Amino acid sequence: MAAAVSVFASPAELGEALAGLVAARAAARGGAGRFSLGLSGGSLVELLAKHLPPALRRPERPAEPWLLALCDERVAPGPNPHSTARHYRERLLPQLPAPAPTVLVPNAELGPDGAARDYGERLRQAFPGAAIPVFDLLLLGLGPDGHTASLFPGHRLLQETEEIVAALTDSPKPPPERVTLTLPVLNAARTVVFAVTGEEKAPVVKRILEGNEENPLPAARVRPHSGELLWFLDEAAAKELTIPVEKHSGL
Ligand code: 6PG
Repeated sequence: MAAAVSVFASPAELGEALAGLVAARAAARGGAGRFSLGLSGGSLVELLAKHLPPALRRPERPAEPWLLALCDERVAPGPNPHSTARHYRERLLPQLPAPAPTVLVPNAELGPDGAARDYGERLRQAFPGAAIPVFDLLLLGLGPDGHTASLFPGHRLLQETEEIVAALTDSPKPPPERVTLTLPVLNAARTVVFAVTGEEKAPVVKRILEGNEENPLPAARVRPHSGELLWFLDEAAAKELTIPVEKHSGL
């Protein structure tokens, strides 16, 4: 399925729309027993911390329990001030309305390999009966090099087809030790949204959405098999695109 590209006048408008989408998708799961949401780090943490709680305070706020899981995590040994889980725990989780979500994050204490194994087992338990976890919604960021989650250009993990979670100790972006969901999980999701802001991303956004490269960048390999793929861009990140996009302003 082709990606649907939405362009917003500012990061704030993008954040508001993204929060609205999360709230709507959670509400749409009403009765299904649970809403599963995969979260990434970077600027997404602040976008969600600012815009998601107000979106959930609206009357249609769902009472379904949520499962929150990280798409990737930095598992540097010792004190880990850059842990994505920590950022979510500090910035977003205290603001979420009851019922408290179930939160699954890699355990950095176990080191990259141990954390990947353990996280993979806990994810499998959270999605019983599924060979590959099917998230209702995955929120992904994009690095200027085309990485997403902790899947980096040219890295062997792009070939992973068996494991649902993998470790790496050679991330080109520090810290080198990380744990990441693999492409089979990203491509099994019901909906994947890339949230990308800023001019520095414009060239890579163009390469991914308009290029047809023999060896695609990691983010270009995210094409859910039967789910939908949405790109939420601000005007700066979209400025080099020539494909048709849906423009939003003044939300
Ligand atoms: C990391 C970050 C990183 C980030 C992207 C996009 O673990 O180093 O989480 O992967 O998500 O680089 O970041 P921005 O949205 O902040 O540009």
